[in-house]
Amino acid sequence: MLTTGPRGTKDILPDSSGHWQYVEKIIREVCNNFAYQEIRTPVFEHTELFLRGIGDTTDIVEKEMYTFTDRAKRSITLRPENTASAVRSYLENKLYSGPQPTKLFYIGPMFRYDRPQAGRYRQFHQFGIEAIGAQGPAIDAEVISLAVAFLNKLGLSDLKLLINSVGCPQCRPVYRAKLQEFFQDKRSHLCSDCQSRYDRNPMRILDCKNETCAEYSQGAPHMLDCLCEECDSHFAGLQELLTTAGISFVINPRLVRGLDYYTKTAFEIQYSPLGAQSAVCGGGRYDGLIAECGGQPTPGIGFAIGIERVLLALEKQALLPLINTAIDVFVAPLGTETRAVAFQLLTELRYAGIAADMDFMNRSLKAQMKYANKYPAKFVALIGENELAEQKVMLKNMETGSQELIARTALVPMILEEMEK
Ligand code: HAM
Repeated sequence: MLTTGPRGTKDILPDSSGHWQYVEKIIREVCNNFAYQEIRTPVFEHTELFLRGIGDTTDIVEKEMYTFTDRAKRSITLRPENTASAVRSYLENKLYSGPQPTKLFYIGPMFRYDRPQAGRYRQFHQFGIEAIGAQGPAIDAEVISLAVAFLNKLGLSDLKLLINSVGCPQCRPVYRAKLQEFFQDKRSHLCSDCQSRYDRNPMRILDCKNETCAEYSQGAPHMLDCLCEECDSHFAGLQELLTTAGISFVINPRLVRGLDYYTKTAFEIQYSPLGAQSAVCGGGRYDGLIAECGGQPTPGIGFAIGIERVLLALEKQALLPLINTAIDVFVAPLGTETRAVAFQLLTELRYAGIAADMDFMNRSLKAQMKYANKYPAKFVALIGENELAEQKVMLKNMETGSQELIARTALVPMILEEMEK
């Protein structure tokens, strides 16, 4: 137990943390381009927020939340997603009184007690955005185009954007009734989850992964045929904007997202080589969520992208960048008496903003040179007994192989000059 982390968690080790930093850098660049600002909310919230926000008939709330009672007997939940928290923060901090829409992005860990497999973890990381306060389809198109811009900037290809409309509280009850009618005599053949979904949330039957349920839902009525006028024109407006902007999409009338807050636009971006966990991005509009959380009725839309899944896709397409561990100077002390001066030089170099390291393992000269090459280091500053006595260092350029004896005090200015070249 002590040497194994909890199931579904992963350490991000030094040999891959550079990949995470790379992805995070692209996230920040793209969000900056689209004028979205970062928000960081706590990793735990009052359980009530997710019960209300995500919906108590969803798999997340029913089966997947990490919920515990704290010492003051409050029910606390590790966030399974960040939309509800962003909305809570928007209301608590009155972000609605700033310029509208409020455009936020976030990067951070989420927690779901799901069955771990490739691309699915119990602690995973999302990059997400939320645009709160704008009504028309233009903001939907912007949100989708940000997701596409991000994935394009990483160089990923073979992605598929699926869109749908899940209607609103006006038109959805009509559709719900039609679905119930459709499934009425098929009900007993559905899986036990879907049998209970029949009463509570029949739309979720449509995206059940069970083969029998999928078979029985063939020919089910489509939400798109039941949209009210407003939802219909919103969806048409979105399609027009995406088409004009050259963003290709496929309409999938069976796309039902696993969270209850969605209204109108729902979308996913899939990368099929990831198999069962092919959804890289999921999002949609949530026009009722802000009021549900106690605010004035306010529209909102956003998405979240699974960073682990993006990294898996980058790996599959050989797009992961090489991790740079290069340093400018490796200080190589030879003999114990030279260590204090070596450390002093190392400190001077680092304080001057130069990337430097030294030998801490009492290696031989040969081993130190080999070690310096591994970073790789541009220069090695050797200090042997002679150099120590003369207050000098032997500076070796590892690229050209040339070396020169220089005054100790000249080392930092010389390296700074080299770095400017
Ligand atoms: P979601 O579809 O539940 O939506 O999650 C979004 C993405 O997070 C998924 O497409 C997937 O890439 C990643 N993801 C989800 N669960 C896991 C897991 N167990 N392991 C690894 N990756 C996972 C949401 O979370 C909504 N809050 C998105 C949103 C924002 N809608 C509106 N605004």
